[in-house]
Amino acid sequence: MPDIESMTRESRVFNVPDAFSKGAAIPAMEHYDALCAEAERDYEGFWARLARTNLLWSKPFTEVLDESNAPLYRWFGDGQLNASYNCLDRNLHDGNGDKLAILFEADDGTLTSVTYRELHARVCRFANALKHLGVARGDRVVIYLPMSIEGVVAMQACARIGATHSVVFGGFSAKALQERVSDLGAVALVTADEQMRAGKALPLKAIADEAIELGGCESVRHMVVYRRTGGRIRWTENRDRWMHEISADQSDICDAEPVDAEHPLFVLYTSGSTGRPKGVQHSTAGYLLWAMLTMKWTFDIKADDVFWCTADIGWITGHTYIAYGPLAAGATQVMFEGVPTYPDAGRFWEMIARHKVSVFYTAPTAIRSLIKAAEADAEVHPAGYNLSSLRLLGTVGEPISPDTWMWYYHHVGGDRCPIVDTFWQTETGGHVIAPLPGATPLVPGSCTLPLPGIMASVVDETGQVLPNGSGGLLAIKRPWPSMIRTIWGDTERFRQSYFPVELGGDVYLAGDGAIRDKDSGYFTITGRIDDVLNVSGHRMGTMEIESALVAHPMVAEAAVVGRSDEVTGEAICAFVVLKHECPSGAEAQQLAAELRKWVGTEIGPIAKPKDIRFGDNLPKTRSGKIMRRLLRSLAKGETITQDVSTLENPSILNQLGEAF
Ligand code: WTA
Repeated sequence: MPDIESMTRESRVFNVPDAFSKGAAIPAMEHYDALCAEAERDYEGFWARLARTNLLWSKPFTEVLDESNAPLYRWFGDGQLNASYNCLDRNLHDGNGDKLAILFEADDGTLTSVTYRELHARVCRFANALKHLGVARGDRVVIYLPMSIEGVVAMQACARIGATHSVVFGGFSAKALQERVSDLGAVALVTADEQMRAGKALPLKAIADEAIELGGCESVRHMVVYRRTGGRIRWTENRDRWMHEISADQSDICDAEPVDAEHPLFVLYTSGSTGRPKGVQHSTAGYLLWAMLTMKWTFDIKADDVFWCTADIGWITGHTYIAYGPLAAGATQVMFEGVPTYPDAGRFWEMIARHKVSVFYTAPTAIRSLIKAAEADAEVHPAGYNLSSLRLLGTVGEPISPDTWMWYYHHVGGDRCPIVDTFWQTETGGHVIAPLPGATPLVPGSCTLPLPGIMASVVDETGQVLPNGSGGLLAIKRPWPSMIRTIWGDTERFRQSYFPVELGGDVYLAGDGAIRDKDSGYFTITGRIDDVLNVSGHRMGTMEIESALVAHPMVAEAAVVGRSDEVTGEAICAFVVLKHECPSGAEAQQLAAELRKWVGTEIGPIAKPKDIRFGDNLPKTRSGKIMRRLLRSLAKGETITQDVSTLENPSILNQLGEAF
């Protein structure tokens, strides 16, 4: 079993303010209970009703859930629809054509906005341009773009013509991009000349060029470039085209291609416990249904809300709660190119005030860094800004400590706004455990209860449900519409990663530990139970970083572990054995810097280890297994008090214990 310490009991409870529950989509616990009961009573009927009333189908479905080939579940299998139609055309028909869809704020504060009608036209033009290039239904298109309206346009345009998109976060390296392009056999790569972050222009096109030059990307026929900065770039005739040029002469109308409910809308890579990232494949209907429903349920989205999700479109949060959910729900959203600390750490608060944001969704790591900044400099404290437009706050990506929660509640939400601590994963497509802000009493640090229809529980290693108060594995017992469909090109890995045979082969295992409160049954997530770290809310596989390190010509062996960090949640700590003698002093410093840079080019800057320690060997058992538990203690700076008699080489601990 994972080491799960019983959590310190949090006794503060925040009841829903009356003003909030009035008019909320789910205004009381009785409504929540009724939905849960409906799902219990008639699981398929429950989902069928929601899918019929929330999505627009070009061919209605008659089958709801097909479990005959579990865990390769199919939802609404004989139905057809189009995701972009459901996000854009729907709003034109509903009279939202002139409504603001996206208000985009650039790094330097420049504002651009699009109404639903304008967004629809831009998506149609780009969809026609892609078709003109020969991109067809079922083709894969990799999108390597910064936060931009163009990013959403590219995703929606793919959906419109039935191409499967795969967005690669702009912070990933050429190597990481190349791996993804090649794994997918993508026919086109959409990128930008450069991206702007905190006043600096960073290359994207140059990295995309490099990725293709690494080889294995022969499938790519076109590189489409969004001109963001006008910076100098290389140009390959016949392959490269400007996004604005190819869209310019296209028609504003592009009929949305109906696709099967199970058609892969996108593949998004995420880290797992082996060296190779997993291409998480999502469906069209089930995914979109949940993106839309959770906008209504968890965010209680209203026609006049101004929604702001600060995630990047390169992560799942930016897919579900920027590119699809808010549009399907007809919301107005703010989209931001920059970082929370530029030009100063008051940027988020200043933007909330200026755009009158009412629903704000961000990551605990951002809140922690802004708390630190506000404590150091009163000028950037949220108290100095008018945040009265806010009515709801949300967090995602990692556990939020009760202290951070309280600060967010008090200083940002003015003790007035509920906080929805949303637990979910790339694989779940949307929130799975989260409060309903008009109904659920809140407890700081707990993501509270599963959303209706999500059969979550805490189990032991044999799949037995554990009593409340006992820590165990977070599991979801029944398939739900927005769940991962497979790992692109690797069904076997899909089964092994999420549906262990010990649990019967049909129970979804999240990869997180959890504990339920003895009385309320509320869930608290205790963190990953596999070799995945969570650094600033980003998932990083330890094996992935180890593979990158050992790819360096000087490295013989490497082991990576996490240690807790005040701002980033977890920090990456690498123990490295070189092919030549163990370095010390200035040489070790210099090598550590080189290896950090190396990991930056192999994976991306987010994967750079914070600490690197060198040794003649790693602590191993006599059978050669690396004792990661000991490395975790060393990383924390603890003296080893555990029994080390099974170690082949106990003296190595002294050497590895020396940090610098
Ligand atoms: C963690 C992000 C605690 C968890 C949407 C999960 C959380 C991983 C929470 C997924 C939360 C996400 N409380 N932990 N509210 N939300 N996590 O795939 O470990 O980038 O497995 O999806 O983040 O990260 P991913």
